Amino acid sequence: MEKYHLNYGWIYRSDFDDSYPQIAIEGELVDIPHCNSMVDYNNFDEKTYQYVSCYQRKINIPASFAQKRVFLRFEAVMCYAEVFVNGELAFFHSGGYTAFEGEITQYIKQGENTLTVKVDSREREDIPPFGNVIDYLTYGGIYREVSLLVREENFIKNVFISPLRVLSDKKAVGVKVVTEKALKEGETIVCNIEDEGQILESVEWRAKESTENEFEIAFAKAVLWEPSRPKLYRLTVEVCGEKVSETFGMRIAEFTKRGFYLNGKESKILGLNRHQSFPYVGYAMPKSAQEEDALKLKELGVNLVRTSHYVNSRHFLEACDKLGLMVFTEIPGWQFVSKREDWRANAIESVREMIEECYNHPSIVLWGVRINESPDDDELYRKTNALAHALDKTRQTGGVRCIPQSKLLEDVYTFNDFTNNGAKMKLMPKFIVTKLNAPLLITEHNGHMFPTKSFDNEKRRTEHALRHAEVINQANKRKNTCGAIGWCMSDYNTHKDFGSGDKICYHGVTDMFRMDKQAAFVYKSQQDDIPVLEVSSNMEIGDHDAAKLGDVYIYTNCDEVKMYKNDAFVASYYPRKQALKALKHPPIILNDMIGNQIEKNEKVSKRAAKRLKKFCLSIASRGAVPAAIRNLLPLVWIMGRYRLNFAAIQDMYGKYVTGWGGAQTNFRFEGIKNGKSVVSVNKGSVMKKQLQVRPLKNELVIKDTYDTVKVEIRALSDFGNVLPYCFDAITLEAENLEVLGETSCAFIGGQRAVWVKTLNAGKATLRIKTGFADKTIEFEVKDERKQINIL
Ligand code: GAL
Repeated sequence: MEKYHLNYGWIYRSDFDDSYPQIAIEGELVDIPHCNSMVDYNNFDEKTYQYVSCYQRKINIPASFAQKRVFLRFEAVMCYAEVFVNGELAFFHSGGYTAFEGEITQYIKQGENTLTVKVDSREREDIPPFGNVIDYLTYGGIYREVSLLVREENFIKNVFISPLRVLSDKKAVGVKVVTEKALKEGETIVCNIEDEGQILESVEWRAKESTENEFEIAFAKAVLWEPSRPKLYRLTVEVCGEKVSETFGMRIAEFTKRGFYLNGKESKILGLNRHQSFPYVGYAMPKSAQEEDALKLKELGVNLVRTSHYVNSRHFLEACDKLGLMVFTEIPGWQFVSKREDWRANAIESVREMIEECYNHPSIVLWGVRINESPDDDELYRKTNALAHALDKTRQTGGVRCIPQSKLLEDVYTFNDFTNNGAKMKLMPKFIVTKLNAPLLITEHNGHMFPTKSFDNEKRRTEHALRHAEVINQANKRKNTCGAIGWCMSDYNTHKDFGSGDKICYHGVTDMFRMDKQAAFVYKSQQDDIPVLEVSSNMEIGDHDAAKLGDVYIYTNCDEVKMYKNDAFVASYYPRKQALKALKHPPIILNDMIGNQIEKNEKVSKRAAKRLKKFCLSIASRGAVPAAIRNLLPLVWIMGRYRLNFAAIQDMYGKYVTGWGGAQTNFRFEGIKNGKSVVSVNKGSVMKKQLQVRPLKNELVIKDTYDTVKVEIRALSDFGNVLPYCFDAITLEAENLEVLGETSCAFIGGQRAVWVKTLNAGKATLRIKTGFADKTIEFEVKDERKQINIL
């Protein structure tokens, strides 16, 4: 098979007429991935992208294709497509999240041909997730890649690779080769397992006369795939003049009633849900942006991502394979099951498409075959489960529900548990969720229970973070729960019925630009690859009701955190004494900001110093009056004994904790790991804003598609902390790059990011101008289009 990329040079129109396939349309020149309409960051009409549009492109068919069969492949079109070749309808497809292809051999001629695609991006009642309301936007357009496939008369339709007996010394790879027509009896299938170009195992299989040939390759020396060592191999299959090559990994994932086991080892799932949408361009983002998201999740310390509520781009899944991030993927839908036959048939078909497209990804450990949070529908879910099990004997099925005691037709009871409302109970006891003795996985928590913006006040941001920590802690405690997947990775645009009225659901542990909120650090601090230290507070009492700072938390994976105040050592803090003990790295409660400072500096006895310290710490958590009432007797005694008035004592609070009028207090937190100082955080009042600009890479490559890069922009204090209430204006000036979104915008809670898109090869720059600083980033853009097939 030869693949030709068809992502450049489409003509696009935001309407469709039955005459368009027959004529050369006029319109805008666009590249794929393409969103039919850019949407604003927030406050827009969600109908903006819900219409029928048209894409057209010429292709030049060379004489060498004469004896071949030619197909067109679309990796995703939202949500219904009709494909016309030279004016004739060649094929159509329903469903916006999976790939589809159709043969066009009979419609093409040598020389110039015209492809026209009618794209219906309306919320059609015949296609899931539509038919009722949904809490996310589906955007429009040909938003994943397009290619032309040139094949032999008979060809390999699919190769399914199954890791077998991976925990024994009889490890093997199950191979199922599906050809379009039956192979001849005795025809040879050559199959190799390769590791970085070196052949490790090789088999020549004599085919039986069938379209499906199944065999095993012994692979005793296989190294297993797991998050900390995502070992990948390549399998090549040669038959009927074709060679197909697929990546795979050897692992076994088992959800049991005693927890989740990967390769026989118990492993608690710590996950986040991901929507694939980005600001402005919706779903239309190329490979590098998909990979950035997988990397971001890895940085967030999770071991699993749920691709809520649909199959994600193959680039995202490939990145998960490479990075060692497990995936729970599912069919499209949201709470609603239609009675319409066509809708139901499409739902079942989406199970087939999901499994056939994604089968070989070792990262995928569970198939979701129920419409997210839908009520029981045995007739439908018997079919989706039977189909999933027929197509894949190696993976279990789940079906995400939010109704306790609902019928389990799947293997795993996957349940959205939104119990945590700040009260004592963090998750429902298992027997309330289900009386069945089944594996239980919590697939969503928090989310709408506590929407939090990156510019909310500190108390709320801290509570948001702690609510995530509490649920994870609770899930970790339970032997009968496989783990918990939080809602969600990033804020997302949504319909009017959801979100904060501005068409954004602020449910993420990062914002829409994938910039960290405080809750992100709860997740980040659970891993051990990089040192993490974040302090929940900027130590500014004025941001708190009645000037009560409240408890301060340190999210860290360090063994010890040392605190210095104006360079004087105050105290060391250790995680093991803290609450939330079931977390791998519980946040440290910073409950002593004074250490021995009062004893050292004030002319009072040791005992009095201890009492005064208690009083000051009590002001911080309770406020002055309740603290005074609680500590009344010792205070009266100290005031008498040392001739101090109440104001003098209260001043100590300012001096030793934080307060008004005194000299500036700077805090330094130093994270110690294995006896070494590995990370530090400084806190203190802002005097001058700093601009931080970080591109995730400096080299961009135009290849199968255009390339993008994310540039992170932060307004920082002199001490390097994000300024959560900075909304200064930003102007973006790009040369040889296109800014995806507004060029005149603002910080949102002290941060923002912008994705820029390649135009031509050569030097490119992005200038970021604010009222307080101005920075220019340089990029090198390479054009490698010549090295690939483009028609
Ligand atoms: C769930 C739903 C998600 C999202 C979330 C918000 O019920 O499955 O898609 O809407 O609520 O918390």
